[in-house]
Amino acid sequence: MIGSRTWLAAIAAVNLMFQGEAAVPPRDFIACLEHIKKHADTTLSTASSPDYATSRLGFNYLFDFKPAAIYRPATEADAAAAVKCAADNGVPIAPRSGGHSFEGYSGGGRDGVLIVDLALLTKFSVDKATGVATIGAGWRLGPLYAQLWDTGPYLIAAGTCPSVGIGGHTLGGGLGNVGRKYGMASDNVVGMNMIDAKGKVLKVNKSTNPDLFWALRGAGGGSFGLVTEFRMQAYDAPDFVTTGSLGWPLSNYSIVLDAYAKWGKTAPDEVMTEMNVSPSGCDIQLTYLGNSTAANATVNELVKLIGKPKYRSLKEGNWYEAATRWAWLNGGTLADPVLGDAHHARGRSLVYRKPLSIKEKDIMFKYMSNPPKGGSSVYAIVDIWGGKINRPNSPSSFDSHRGVQFGIEFISEWGDSESQPGLTCPDCLDWSAKFAKEMQAAYSSGPLEAYQNYIERDMPNSLTAYYGNSLDRLKSIKKKYDPFNAFNFAQSIPL
Ligand SMILES: Cc1cc2nc3c(=O)[nH]c(=O)nc-3n(C[C@H](O)[C@H](O)[C@H](O)COP(=O)(O)OP(=O)(O)OC[C@H]3O[C@@H](n4cnc5c(N)ncnc54)[C@H](O)[C@@H]3O)c2cc1C
Ligand SMILES: *[C@@H]1O[C@H](CO)[C@@H](O)[C@H](O)[C@H]1NC(C)=O
Ligand SMILES: *[C@@H]1O[C@H](CO)[C@@H](O)[C@H](O)[C@H]1NC(C)=O
Ligand SMILES: *[C@@H]1O[C@H](CO)[C@@H](O)[C@H](O)[C@H]1NC(C)=O
Ligand SMILES: *[C@@H]1O[C@H](CO)[C@@H](O)[C@H](O)[C@H]1NC(C)=O
Repeated sequence: MIGSRTWLAAIAAVNLMFQGEAAVPPRDFIACLEHIKKHADTTLSTASSPDYATSRLGFNYLFDFKPAAIYRPATEADAAAAVKCAADNGVPIAPRSGGHSFEGYSGGGRDGVLIVDLALLTKFSVDKATGVATIGAGWRLGPLYAQLWDTGPYLIAAGTCPSVGIGGHTLGGGLGNVGRKYGMASDNVVGMNMIDAKGKVLKVNKSTNPDLFWALRGAGGGSFGLVTEFRMQAYDAPDFVTTGSLGWPLSNYSIVLDAYAKWGKTAPDEVMTEMNVSPSGCDIQLTYLGNSTAANATVNELVKLIGKPKYRSLKEGNWYEAATRWAWLNGGTLADPVLGDAHHARGRSLVYRKPLSIKEKDIMFKYMSNPPKGGSSVYAIVDIWGGKINRPNSPSSFDSHRGVQFGIEFISEWGDSESQPGLTCPDCLDWSAKFAKEMQAAYSSGPLEAYQNYIERDMPNSLTAYYGNSLDRLKSIKKKYDPFNAFNFAQSIPL
């Protein structure tokens, strides 16, 4: 139980953080973690451990917070015991699945937290009768796709980056190449196990803890408890999957952006595209669940609206090849990805219900024509939404985003994967902040709306932008399942 004494300790810890000092971990808390560390695989890292400098880092090296401890449980019971140690001592808990949070929230987003790193929770099985996959929260998408392929071949609806974790990704939505056919990752979850702040394992599905089932699918990242396991609908991989690319010069941005939005509204559910608008042009990556003849017909519809592209190619293959192509592997495989991505990035985003206004398009063109000095790349990824995303099988907190037509991520990158933590690029950060501010000011789709998986600290009224009319109910569910706010970060669901 959390008594008022530990609650006061929690407030004291928070006060310390606001003074900008690294919070001193309560002795009882570390002793508690050492006491429960029973399995050989379980690791505990604290400020004095040799691996503390590396095991605290997530994907984005822009962030280098100092947690009180990083605990890597080997079993669900270990994870539950660790959560209880932290909650009883007033130490905030940050679950970490793949560590890809845009704001480093799986590292706490500030100093002094317990990171529960779920990497060892890699349970996997598929019920062949129902196609429901049981997936431990430690899986990353690339290895998971490879495992599903070897088992079925099956696929699940989720994102393209092979190092993203199934945990944070699915709890905040999860959009990928079969999104318009099968919905968001969160739409395909039929059950979960969640550890609450008391260290109790709750079964969560449509009939057991149904309010939590609604909340976690969309708003579950770090706000309610720690999810150890997902039960997700998987699908038989289709016989043919066609991938393709086509592009126009950046100078065509206005007509291309209009046509892309218009085409996205009527394109078949089988197609998914992301368009990278960058200093080198407007370039589309396409995935079509079907053969190249059918894919070509869809591409022709888009080309008709714009005019001849500067290049165009389609390649027929299977799902594994498509997932591999868009994973941008740097010599590795899906099962064992080697990442070419920069580890220093500032990403921001907005989602849209209407085509961009002339002003919004011009802002994009202005920033893409003037990339920051010292950066390695800048781009805006325009993803089409729609299809099955708008026809979910069951209600969830993600419903506030139904009807979105497309989303845009504004990315600025610098350094490379070998660079040191903390490496910064003031021009890149400045470019990103100004671009986002201008896009927010010009936003013409209604009240500001954005995708929570691209979480951004500076987003005005961010909780409303991320959760819209789901927010009030989310707060009441938060009160019920985490009344002492053990799971909290700068943008978590408040009490
Ligand atoms: C390079 C890159 C590519 C991306 N590509 C896509 C894409 O194609 N499609 C898309 O939709 N999104 C994409 N994203 C965004 C991604 O979905 C989010 O960043 C997501 O939150 C990452 O999940 P994670 O488990 O890797 O991150 P983490 O940083 O581990 O977690 C993110 C948040 O969820 C919480 N959390 C994590 N695991 C759990 C758990 N088991 N229980 C409770 N809370 C948990 C964390 O505490 C944190 O607040 C991408 C991000 C990056 C950096
Ligand atoms: C929900 O979970 C409970 C407890 O594990 C289980 O008995 C029940 O069959 C599940 N219901 C559904 C619809 O999956
Ligand atoms: C696209 O850009 C090219 C090169 O700048 C130009 O010649 C062409 O007319 C443009 N097409 C359209 C449809 O705007
Ligand atoms: C391609 O797919 C379409 C739609 O499924 C089908 O009608 C057609 O016969 C296929 N064509 C070839 C060449 O396989
Ligand atoms: C795609 O369609 C275009 C226009 O009809 C045609 O010229 C081209 O040969 C087709 N490509 C494929 C791969 O079918």
